[in-house]
Amino acid sequence: MTMAKVATDRIDQTAALDVAAARADFPILKETVYGRPLVYLDSAASAQKPRAVLDAVQEAYEKRYSNVHRGAHRLSQLATDAFEEARETVARFINARSADEIIFTRNATEAINLVAASYGRTFLAAGDEIVLTEMEHHANIVPWQLLRDQIGVVLRIVPIDDDGVLRLDSLAALFGPRTRLVAVTHCSNVLGTVNPVQEIVRLAHDHGVPVVVDGSQGIVHAGADMQAMDADFYAFTGHKLYGPSGIGVLYGKQDLLERMPPYQGGGEMIDHVSFAKTTFKTPPHRFEAGTPPIVQAIGLAAAVRYVSALGMDAIRAHEQALLAEATAALEQVGGVRIFGRAPGKAAIISFLVGSLHPYDVAAVLDRDGVAVRVGQHCAEPLMARLGVDGTARASFALYNDGTDVEALVKAIHKAKRLLG
Ligand code: ALA
Repeated sequence: MTMAKVATDRIDQTAALDVAAARADFPILKETVYGRPLVYLDSAASAQKPRAVLDAVQEAYEKRYSNVHRGAHRLSQLATDAFEEARETVARFINARSADEIIFTRNATEAINLVAASYGRTFLAAGDEIVLTEMEHHANIVPWQLLRDQIGVVLRIVPIDDDGVLRLDSLAALFGPRTRLVAVTHCSNVLGTVNPVQEIVRLAHDHGVPVVVDGSQGIVHAGADMQAMDADFYAFTGHKLYGPSGIGVLYGKQDLLERMPPYQGGGEMIDHVSFAKTTFKTPPHRFEAGTPPIVQAIGLAAAVRYVSALGMDAIRAHEQALLAEATAALEQVGGVRIFGRAPGKAAIISFLVGSLHPYDVAAVLDRDGVAVRVGQHCAEPLMARLGVDGTARASFALYNDGTDVEALVKAIHKAKRLLG
């Protein structure tokens, strides 16, 4: 039985997640690190891949590989069909109105850069204001700073409270006559805070302001329904959603995309080219210059089918139970300080152990096979707000279980003994 078959067998969305079966779908979890079982708690940086994704990628290369949208031959047709089916699969997953609203990019960062470069340079002008938040990842800060340096827009920053909750009152107070865009993360990669994006979108739309959502973590931990959320743009990446690296998605409302100029120029995105003038394709192809990430898109579609078959609600319930278990266990370890206490947060725990340097803690954990991320997590302004140089971060995924929590806690005790 192939993994794809296993996945379609698990179609009952209300069933609890069978974690043991899910773990068995991820070959890398059988690997050891320094002779110890791998305890992978770094899925917010990049998630591991199920067999269904690995098989889809392998099969695409072995049986249906060619360039897309170009060839007159059979293989090209098969590859094109698979690539465009991947777009349809992603559109259904996020409940977009049309697959034409799905642009394939390299990652979420490129998706946000696309909005800043194309929408930003076309529709914003010097003195216009873009609202960001204190908890943004660099991917949702730097593209807007580049735009600021190019055309003179002004960045306004919404603060967070000490629990890591976004101050919606401050956000509401920031809207003024020059507010032109809100760019906000769906879920903080450091704090786990899941922002009320639907409410934020409603508020922004009441002021006639469009919203860009960085969904890199949110799509994984909270799910995303474009028609319910009503965001104007939503960016996410494949590799955190159990898919391949090198593939991201920009969802954009069709009427906006149709009014936006190309982001990059080249093959694939043109209609006609002469030295005097070039005309462009309609979206999404207008924004996909050059050979796209063909097999990566096919792999992402396999990942989307995999998590859909497990059930996003079941995955979320499992992660929430693990978060509660891990938080309680870490609180029992004397001196552990957790950053981010927002109600309903996702299963991401940033922490410090007493005055120990997080890199030292992570090194001890690593020797026990426990993989966590450490540092500033591409969120330097947030670190400044928290008053720390960096933290360790354990992030949980559908394949983690209570033994991973036990291993984490045991390794932290060891770090305290060795380093304290
Ligand atoms: N943005 C990724 C993280 O949070 C890399 O770790």
